Amino acid sequence: MKYNIIATCTFGLESVLKKELLGLGYNDLNVQDGRITFQSDESGIARTNIFLRTADRVYLKLSEFPANDFDELFEGVYKINWQDMIPVNGIMHVNGRSKKSKLSSVPACQSITKKAIIEKMKLSYKVEKFTEDGTKFPIEIILENNKAIVTLDTSGTALYKRGYRLNTGDAPLKETLAAGLILLSNWRPNTPLIDPFCGSGTVLIEAAMIGKNIAPGLNRHFLAMNWDFIDKGIWKQAVDEAFSRMNKNKLDLYGYDIDSKVIKYARLNSENAELNTMINYDQKDIADFNFSNEKGSIITNLPYGERLGDKDSLDGLYKTFKDSISQNDQFGKSIFTAHDHFQEIFGRANKKRKLYNGNIKCILYSYYSKR
Ligand SMILES: C[S@@+](CC[C@H](N)C(=O)[O-])C[C@H]1O[C@@H](n2cnc3c(N)ncnc32)[C@H](O)[C@@H]1O
Repeated sequence: MKYNIIATCTFGLESVLKKELLGLGYNDLNVQDGRITFQSDESGIARTNIFLRTADRVYLKLSEFPANDFDELFEGVYKINWQDMIPVNGIMHVNGRSKKSKLSSVPACQSITKKAIIEKMKLSYKVEKFTEDGTKFPIEIILENNKAIVTLDTSGTALYKRGYRLNTGDAPLKETLAAGLILLSNWRPNTPLIDPFCGSGTVLIEAAMIGKNIAPGLNRHFLAMNWDFIDKGIWKQAVDEAFSRMNKNKLDLYGYDIDSKVIKYARLNSENAELNTMINYDQKDIADFNFSNEKGSIITNLPYGERLGDKDSLDGLYKTFKDSISQNDQFGKSIFTAHDHFQEIFGRANKKRKLYNGNIKCILYSYYSKR
């Protein structure tokens, strides 16, 4: 059976997610802000959850229809064959949001949606009451420009929660965003990679998974694994595919941070991901760093004002970092920060890309190596 599938991502990562989907063989992609829609059979649900590095969640898009009033909303939701997906005891939890639509009351839209689902289920199952004590089916009703989109969340726990990161410092990057920074950089896995402000190690752990072609969802559970209408065999096939895609590449990954506590966390997180033998960590202040004899790429997420300390006091740190790497122009640098005057300190970047870290607007500044 063909499904419409939506993969969502952080604003700014759509082009990377698009590349990932093309790489998995999905070609007819509809790219919008923060989401990409495509068609696939059930295997696409398993493969995208398991393989995508930059997607936040994977949804089934069940329907899209005009919804100018509650009657249209009810009819559109009622038309969906809920009984083909949801068993008689399924938990039907409806969330909603509304943007630029006449139907602007989200609670009212949620309750009409739920009512329409229940009425359809009553007709199909010939029962009057639903116990809702079985498997979860998180339904979302999205109103946008007077159109309704009905989705089912197949991921359950968000995809950035890979499961390896049990300890973090103050301002950790989401795993999906860290993967995005790496995929947007010019780093190639056969060259060294350094994160001199590595915190809990997210960038390096994601880089190790990219370098070894380890699927980020390999050891995870996804909500749709509980659903009977999706053949369990497709999950096994996707896992087998993930194992067959891994490689034996040797990697050269280095993480440093001034804080010995976060270095300990980075080591533990890398151990949880079973990648500890691939990443070298050391406690080091950037002021003591000498990059002059090394080659490679730097991908890092510097401390910045809103989240860590005061912006003005960070300027010295940025200058120290710049001085330590300016002796060597053989590094490609990808620096992610929300610092307002970053280029005044660091010089004009070859490329800039706006990305959001939570709701903080950040920029990824790329400086190409002069090799
Ligand atoms: C934004 S956090 C990095 C978070 C990391 N990407 C993660 O996902 O956990 C910035 C890091 O810079 C470190 N730091 C601050 N001053 C430093 C210095 N002078 N030298 C090296 N690291 C420093 C902090 O300890 C902090 O862990």
